[in-house]
Amino acid sequence: MKVNPVYQRNLKISLHGPGPSDVPDEVLKAMSTPTLGHLDSEFIKIMDETQDMQRKVFQTKNMMTIPVSGTGSSGMETLVANLIEPHDKVVVIKNGVFGERFADEASRFGAEVVPLELEWGTVVTPEKVKEILGKNRCQVFFLVHAETSTGAHQQWLKEIGEIVHEHDALFLVDTVTSLGGCEVKIDEWGIDAAFSGTQKCLSVPPGLSPVSLNEKAMQKLRGKKKKARSWYFDLGMIEEYWSGGQKRKYHHTAPVNMIYDLHEGLRLILKEGLAARFERHRKNAEALQAGLEALGFSYVVEREKERLPMLHAVYLPEGIDEAKLREEIRLNHNIEIGGGLGKFSGKAWRVGLMGHSSTEDKVCRLLNVVGEVFKKHGIVNDAELGLRAAEAVYK
Ligand SMILES: Cc1ncc(COP(=O)(O)O)c(C=O)c1O
Repeated sequence: MKVNPVYQRNLKISLHGPGPSDVPDEVLKAMSTPTLGHLDSEFIKIMDETQDMQRKVFQTKNMMTIPVSGTGSSGMETLVANLIEPHDKVVVIKNGVFGERFADEASRFGAEVVPLELEWGTVVTPEKVKEILGKNRCQVFFLVHAETSTGAHQQWLKEIGEIVHEHDALFLVDTVTSLGGCEVKIDEWGIDAAFSGTQKCLSVPPGLSPVSLNEKAMQKLRGKKKKARSWYFDLGMIEEYWSGGQKRKYHHTAPVNMIYDLHEGLRLILKEGLAARFERHRKNAEALQAGLEALGFSYVVEREKERLPMLHAVYLPEGIDEAKLREEIRLNHNIEIGGGLGKFSGKAWRVGLMGHSSTEDKVCRLLNVVGEVFKKHGIVNDAELGLRAAEAVYK
């Protein structure tokens, strides 16, 4: 078998879907560094630094802050396997695909799931949280901070955290799409445990799931009557590998090169500065929104302040074969745009401006290409409508 042509062509696609996002060269370079042993003292230093930087990005002091081996869903499964016992009552906010995934996971691990079903594209209010927790004494409460299937940005995390704690439950949050692209304040917001993914706003290839658990969550984990129901994701055992100083206890072989690239990705994030990074995401989102609306798109999320800066879920103008247009853009212009997920399949696009994919140049190129393709198909008369609207925001 010959070497796959993708490696030889050095094919570069601009990633503007729901993840993965563009990866900086520094991160790709770190990833291709010769592999060290997973117990090598040099590698252990890299692990320690990765944990320190991950704490800064999560804005937490939690000791148990590590990357789980696996994509974002592995972080979800880690929290479920370690923090939920059979018959625990778990309240789950279901306003998109990922709340549904968590509910499914939790029920597979024996939880009694109490879903709060909301309109897709909306978020939960503190009043609704108060109401459902008032009716259901639960051990765990879960919501998604950045719902990638709808583009909804959950607000009031701090207020909701307080309500959850008044009811003596653990507050679990999915930060897969938000981490590195907007504020995620684990300690200040009272989040007991959170998970994320590398391939979104961290701009690191898919393959790791940063997680963070506070002492309250660790106490529940240690006080469980039975062992975690997953051997691979048993945090009690994994902890002995990640927090043993130079004396690490083998659990599973760490994905060494993946940890190099997370390490380098986190370094770049902290070099840029969290505040500057979030402002970059916000500004580019404002410009993209102006451009998309000028081209005739409309947002799934109605309230502007509840829209994510890194993921724009938008309905297309009427009568368009969305998949065909996306394919044309991918083949002729090397830009990937995401299709709608779940209820929005065939009706909406998901346009990502995550991490390294969120720049003024990329926003302008994207709007330019979409404008050209729309003009070619007679959807608009003026190909530059979107571009000009975005440029007005940048000015
Ligand atoms: C909000 C959210 N949670 C969880 C996941 C699952 O992550 P992964 O696909 O990396 O397993 C995703 C992936 O898109 C996501 O967007």
